[in-house]
Amino acid sequence: MKEDNRPKFTTKFGVIAATVGSAVGLGNIWRFPYEAGMHGGGAFLLVNLLCVLLIGIPVVCAEFVLGRASRRNIFGAMDYLAPKGGKWWRIAGFLGVLSGTLILSFYAVVAGWTLEYLFQSLSGNLTAGGVRESHAEFNNFTAGWRCVFWTIVLLSINGVVVLRGVKKGIENVSNWLMPLLFVLLVMMTVNSLLLPGAMDGLRFLFIPDMAHVDSSTFLSALGQAFFSLSVGLGTLTVYGSYFPSDTKIVKSASIMAGLDTLVAIVAGMIIFPAVFAFGKEPAAGPQLVFEVLPDIFRQMTGGAIWSSVFFLLLLIASLTSTISLSETGVAFCIERWHLKRSKAVALTMGFVTFFGIFCALSFGPLAHVTFFGMTVFGLFDYVTSNIFLPLGGMMVSIFVGWIVDRVTVDKQLSPASKYVRKSIVFLLRYVCPLAILAVFINNLIG
Ligand code: PFF
Repeated sequence: MKEDNRPKFTTKFGVIAATVGSAVGLGNIWRFPYEAGMHGGGAFLLVNLLCVLLIGIPVVCAEFVLGRASRRNIFGAMDYLAPKGGKWWRIAGFLGVLSGTLILSFYAVVAGWTLEYLFQSLSGNLTAGGVRESHAEFNNFTAGWRCVFWTIVLLSINGVVVLRGVKKGIENVSNWLMPLLFVLLVMMTVNSLLLPGAMDGLRFLFIPDMAHVDSSTFLSALGQAFFSLSVGLGTLTVYGSYFPSDTKIVKSASIMAGLDTLVAIVAGMIIFPAVFAFGKEPAAGPQLVFEVLPDIFRQMTGGAIWSSVFFLLLLIASLTSTISLSETGVAFCIERWHLKRSKAVALTMGFVTFFGIFCALSFGPLAHVTFFGMTVFGLFDYVTSNIFLPLGGMMVSIFVGWIVDRVTVDKQLSPASKYVRKSIVFLLRYVCPLAILAVFINNLIG
């Protein structure tokens, strides 16, 4: 596609809002706190920061480079930028698009849960009636067809946004939702920090407990960094392909990674003080947000308001992330099969809805359908987060570090200084692939 007729983000703010919107999601507010809770709080945070800095930011830059240098989605980008005889690289691109749609299938289910919890919060049901059996309530809800309904609602909202296109849909929605998200975050943080006993939560989050650092901490921290930064499957390549020519790639990647990490930390500052103040268990795992928090909101003054604010926050965060995942599939269909945007949206959303229904039913009617001991939901989550994303990240770093012509990479990374450009290429060539490989092998042996 020629540079001129490719849709583009129109403002600097739009570029940041859309990329931060993709990065900030359930990964920050739902996944980070429970991963940190299970891996020793501050120790996990420290390892995670290292992963973001040394591996995450270079791979984000690499994806932006791929997108803007080719003005194509990741499949087309690898095809276009590989030297002659290197066409098989596009298989890696295709795997990226595929894993994007698989992630969207289970991600939309959890995002759908937030719609239900927001709905219940707004109607006052979630916080009514004092102490309740949150665990049984959550199980009842996820085992029924209601969560299929919410998954479909969420995917339909996505369909409408991406149908409107890059500027009117994605950029416009991100421009509104991201500032709102930050306002809600500040409100929630102030409320949490004012709780008696908040200091214990902060201590847990910020003081590293090295006794909890083992090989699983590294795998989880790297997996978390990849998932949270949205790297490894071509979503950022598609967004990079919509960057105006004067967007500074290294600066944008750093702002995006910085804000993404900040939101994860702030989410920890919202959740852990509340968990400690109400005597709950910080290592509760994935249920932390949907079971432990409702219990806390029930005991909090103004609980219905705070639970509404919290689940709205979670919904906004997940919506802008699902939009970026949807666009990954849509851009592929448009470019690969020359479809109109409307047809590409119908095809992508139809495919994702089909798999999304299976994921949604994994907690009830299809709970007994398992592969390698995992439900469809569990399988999609495991395969994409632990295998496809790191593998995709490794391919992208090798491709941009070793295969793409250095002049092209340098041109895309400028105006960053020569030292910064060299460091990024060095990290992409050696550090990222080796670190990902080491963590992989460790995981297999462990
Ligand atoms: N980064 C998102 C989050 O933290 O929730 C999840 C995500 C979005 C992963 C887009 C991958 C992706 F391509």
